[in-house]
Amino acid sequence: MPAQPHNFDSTYFRAALGRFATGVTVITCESAHPATPVGLTISSFNSVSLDPPMVLWSLTRKASSLAHFQRAERYVIHVLAASQLHLARQFASGPQSLRFRDLRLKRAPGGTLMLDDPECAAWFECYNLTRHEAGDHLVFIGQVERCGRSFNQPLVYHAGDFDLTPSTEPLSNN
Ligand SMILES: Cc1cc2nc3c(=O)[nH]c(=O)nc-3n(C[C@H](O)[C@H](O)[C@H](O)COP(=O)(O)O)c2cc1C
Repeated sequence: MPAQPHNFDSTYFRAALGRFATGVTVITCESAHPATPVGLTISSFNSVSLDPPMVLWSLTRKASSLAHFQRAERYVIHVLAASQLHLARQFASGPQSLRFRDLRLKRAPGGTLMLDDPECAAWFECYNLTRHEAGDHLVFIGQVERCGRSFNQPLVYHAGDFDLTPSTEPLSNN
C-alpha cells in the first residue's frame, strides 16, 4: 500500500512538480454532434514508445471537454512554438467557440481537425488508443500515425509560468 501521510501538502506538491520544465501543447479533436472543433492547452504531454510510436497526456476529470476526448477516434497534439504563447492562453479557458476564433483549421492527413499554423514546433496525429483512470485525471495513450516538425523555438513552461527568456543559441537542424 502506498504511504500517504495525512499532512501531505498538495500545494507544496504542485510547487515541486512545477520545477519540472515542460513544453506546451494544444490538443484538438472534433466533437461528433454537432461536428465542431474542441481544443485545450496541455503540458502533461510526454513520449512513451518509439516502436510502436506512442505518446501520453493527462486530462483533469473536471474538464468540460473530457467526454469529447474520450469519444474521439483521433486527436492532434500541437507542440507550441515560443511565438504561440497567445494560443497557450487562448486554449486554457473560455468557451470552445472563442478558443478557435480567427484561427485557420485544416484536416490532418488522417482526417482530424488541426490548427493550420506553420509556426507549431511539432504536431502528432494520434489514434486514441487507450485511456487510464489515475486519481483526478485520465491518462490518454495515443498511437502516433503521422507527425511533423519545424525548427521553431518551443514554448517552455515551468513554476506555473511561461519561460519567455529568448534563446541565445540557434537550434540545430536535427
Ligand atoms: C500551460 C498550461 C498547461 C496545462 N496543462 C494541463 C494538463 O496537462 N492537463 C489538464 O487537465 N489541464 C491542463 N491545463 C489546464 C487546461 O488547459 C484547462 O483546464 C482547460 O482548457 C479547460 O478546458 P475545458 O473547457 O475542457 O474545461 C493547462 C493549462 C495551462 C495554461
